[in-house]
Amino acid sequence: ELSPIDRAKFVAARRSCDYVESGMRVGLGTGSTAAWMVRCLGERVQAEGLDIIGVPTSSRTADLARQLGIRVASLDEVKWLDVTIDGADEFDSNLNLIKGGGGAALQEKIVATASDRMVVIADAAKEVRALGAFPLPVETVPFGWQTTQALIEETLVNMDVMGRESTLRMNDDVPFITDEGNYVLDLHLNRIGNPRQLSLVLNQIPGVVENGLFIDICDVVIVGHSDGAVELRD
Ligand code: A5P
Repeated sequence: ELSPIDRAKFVAARRSCDYVESGMRVGLGTGSTAAWMVRCLGERVQAEGLDIIGVPTSSRTADLARQLGIRVASLDEVKWLDVTIDGADEFDSNLNLIKGGGGAALQEKIVATASDRMVVIADAAKEVRALGAFPLPVETVPFGWQTTQALIEETLVNMDVMGRESTLRMNDDVPFITDEGNYVLDLHLNRIGNPRQLSLVLNQIPGVVENGLFIDICDVVIVGHSDGAVELRD
């Protein structure tokens, strides 16, 4: 028996599998919602011989997909994808997203951008009027990260945001390390007035590799509810 939140994630994930057909190259997202989608695709591979190539967005997702018998390739092997299905931490009415709560936003953004279509699956609690209540992850190279952090905080003074604290993401007593060997700074902004501008400005700062704002990348959000209902936003 699933908890209400898991049921909402599950029904969104199950619906997203309708976007997948044999012959497709499919970007496989990261996180608990995306894991339900990977399981649904794995079941179809076993049950109906669904013939797909999955491109995982994290080592975690790669392990899960392989366990379930989904054929896995790197982005460099397939180069272009038909669809990417992934979760999100927040989405707004323009289908802009915050991602990276799971620390995989860099690979997720590269894979989603290389796809004809990005389908996001989310429980209804992730819909927001303005992005930013969820801390915005910014992936930074370890070299000089405190200087990068100071530059980010200075830059935020001129941005339309409500907070500008940032914290280095930790894994117990040591910095969390991404699949690409980088650190993550979580920016506590509370409200992001202009996500497009903020994303561009953050990525200009030396040491910043990528930020968790997905602007004009997502094509459709499948919203799952705990009563089993599903809505589409596109
Ligand atoms: C991973 O880096 C994130 O972008 C995830 O997509 C996001 O954190 C959603 O995860 P859940 O589905 O577990 O909420």
